[in-house]
Amino acid sequence: MLRKVLFPVAGFGTRMLPVTKVVPKELLPILNRPAIEYVVDEALNSGFDSFIFVISYGKEAIIDYFDVDLGLRSFLAERKKESLLDLIKEVESKVKTLSAVRQKIPEGLGHAVLSAERLVGKEPFAVILGDDLIDAEPPCLKQMKELYLELSAQTENHSLIALEEVSLEEVSKYGIVEGERISDNLIKIKRMVEKPSPEEAPSNLAIVGRYIFHPAIFEYLKRIPKKGGEYQLTDAMQLMIEEGYPFYGYIFQGIRLDTGNPKGYFKAILHYASKDPELREILKSFSFEI
Ligand code: G1P
Repeated sequence: MLRKVLFPVAGFGTRMLPVTKVVPKELLPILNRPAIEYVVDEALNSGFDSFIFVISYGKEAIIDYFDVDLGLRSFLAERKKESLLDLIKEVESKVKTLSAVRQKIPEGLGHAVLSAERLVGKEPFAVILGDDLIDAEPPCLKQMKELYLELSAQTENHSLIALEEVSLEEVSKYGIVEGERISDNLIKIKRMVEKPSPEEAPSNLAIVGRYIFHPAIFEYLKRIPKKGGEYQLTDAMQLMIEEGYPFYGYIFQGIRLDTGNPKGYFKAILHYASKDPELREILKSFSFEI
C-alpha cells in the first residue's frame, strides 16, 4: 500500500524574497497555475490519493487553493461564467483527501517530515519537495513507485530516493550519496552526506526532492541531533542505513526545474511556455530581438 504523499511547504522561501514575504513560494505561478499544482498533479498521476501538507503560519492559502470556495462558485454561476466555473471545479476536485499539519517552529526539513508522523501512521509514504518540478512521462513519482514495488519482491523495509548527477561546484547545495551501481539508473546507497564541500563529496549524485520512505524514518528523525538549528532528513536516512535499512537511489528520467530561486523559477516558466504552441510563438519573437 502506497497512497499517502507528504508535501513539506512550511519554509520561508528566503531565496525568493521579497515576493515570498506575502506570497508562499509554492503559490508563485508557472504560467497560470501555482507551482504546487504541478507537483500535486504528479502525485495524482502517480496513483496517490491521500495528500498531507506540512504548512506554517501564513501559508494556509496553499491548502485553500485546493479547497472548495462556494462563494466563488456561486458568483461565477450567477454571472454565467461557465468555463471559469469549470476551471475552478477542476482544481477544487483534484485533492479528495487533504490533511494539513503545522510546523510551528522552522527546524528544518527533517522536523517538517516528523510533524506529519500522526497523519502518515505506520505505512510507507512518499515525500515531494515542491521546489523541484520534474517534467517527465511517466511522472517521476510513478517511475519510483513502480520501482519501489518491484524492489519489494526481493527486499523489505526499504526506501527509495530520486537522484540526479550534478556538477562538482553544485554538490554543496544537495544531499550527496555514495553507493554501488546495480544497473544504469539504480544505486544501492551506502552512505549519504548533507551539503558537502566539493572536496568532501563522495560522488556527484545528488538527492532531489522525491522520496519513498519506510515509516521507521520517524523514529530515526527523533534520534538525530540538530545541526545549525535544523534537523536534517539526510541525517536520519544515514542513521537508518547504518542500522541496516536498505536505501536505493534512482536516477530518474526527466527534466528537473528548481523553482526555489529566481533564475530557476524563470527557467521553469520558459520551459513550460515552450511546450505551449501559442506561448512558444511569443518566445520565438523575443529570441529574435535578443
Ligand atoms: C533539501 C535536502 C537535500 C536535497 C535537496 C533537494 O535541501 O536537505 O538533501 O538534496 O532538498 O532539493 P534544501 O534544498 O531544502 O536546502
